[in-house]
Amino acid sequence: MAQQTVFRLPSKGAGYDKLSEHWEAVPKVQAHEVLLKIHATTLNYRDLVIANGGYPFPVKDNVVPLSDAAGTIEEVGEAVQDLKKGDWAISNFDVTNLYGPQPNWLNGLGGPIDGVLRQYIAIPATAIVKIPSSTKLSWSQLASLVCTGTTAWNALYGNLPLKPGQTVLFQGTGGVSTTGLMLAKDAGAKTIITSSSDEKLKMVREKYGADYCVNYKSTPDWAAKVNRITEGHGADFIFENGGSGTIAQSIACVARGGQIAVIGFLSQAKEMPDVAALVLDKGCIVRGINVGAKQLTEDLVKYVCGKDLSVPVEKNFGFERGQILEAFKYLESGGHVGKVCIEIVKA
Ligand SMILES: NC(=O)c1ccc[n+]([C@@H]2O[C@H](COP(=O)([O-])OP(=O)(O)OC[C@H]3O[C@@H](n4cnc5c(N)ncnc54)[C@H](OP(=O)(O)O)[C@@H]3O)[C@@H](O)[C@H]2O)c1
Repeated sequence: MAQQTVFRLPSKGAGYDKLSEHWEAVPKVQAHEVLLKIHATTLNYRDLVIANGGYPFPVKDNVVPLSDAAGTIEEVGEAVQDLKKGDWAISNFDVTNLYGPQPNWLNGLGGPIDGVLRQYIAIPATAIVKIPSSTKLSWSQLASLVCTGTTAWNALYGNLPLKPGQTVLFQGTGGVSTTGLMLAKDAGAKTIITSSSDEKLKMVREKYGADYCVNYKSTPDWAAKVNRITEGHGADFIFENGGSGTIAQSIACVARGGQIAVIGFLSQAKEMPDVAALVLDKGCIVRGINVGAKQLTEDLVKYVCGKDLSVPVEKNFGFERGQILEAFKYLESGGHVGKVCIEIVKA
């Protein structure tokens, strides 16, 4: 394994069809690093906007895209004590953020620093989260815990934690929403999910057990519907994936004192509502989410792997360039429900 296949994007916004394939040396581990053999990775909406344009944070030129790696440790640096060859592990999204709020946007894999669309990565041992080898989760499901899983966990447990019996509302049926749905259902919450598609809503009800489904296209005032479902109480937690275009509806249906996790930026407001006045009226918390520190990922892994929860992976693609482009195209089409993954080592 002296050489490996690596994919690179020439620059931010160049377009995913400009991804190029390289044959490069497998990195040597430094004293405090481990060499991770990557079995699977996943695509996030972030990877699409890094490739196509619209990502607001720094991205290095010629970046190795993608942030989420699951694999086995092949080698450990001489100063690494708590990990060994053969251990199962995932990467942490930000390689420097061990605890607390994210300090900046300069250390996220697959953006400001090289990511994981390759066979091997040398990574600080402190940025590794160990996976119990008894896990029944696939490598793709494990990789999905890195960005999507930690984000959903952060939204539910990063501030005032979710309690059984509370109501959680998810916008859309993408990776973050369906993973959050899995976590919230398992924790005893009542769940409401929205989608632009009745077909997708049927699927999330049947496959993932969403309690209530609302089509946000045919029901533009979906907040009123959520208020009816909750008998006027509102949702205790909201996964705000739309951003400025949906925040007014979210505040309209959040419970008094509830929490809105501002996660995504999928819809832009033509005219921004007076968020300060609306929030003041509701006495709610509006909290920006930046994926999450390693400590949150560790808590998530303990919960999900301890219960072998079925992380919602929808489709796996191969590690050939054509397949990778297909994976990007599929995510871009919005046809997915759950996670879109790439198997680097064929399962
Ligand atoms: N802040 C963070 O730390 C963080 C971390 C991860 C992701 N994110 C962000 O969170 C968002 C979701 O990420 P993801 O990975 O889950 O994306 P994804 O898998 O691509 O899912 C996107 C889904 O969102 C739904 N959607 C699109 N426009 C919508 C709108 N106006 N209202 C409600 N739902 C809408 C669609 O669902 P339907 O087809 O069912 O309508 C779409 O399939 C993205 O903006 C991403 O950048 C942020």
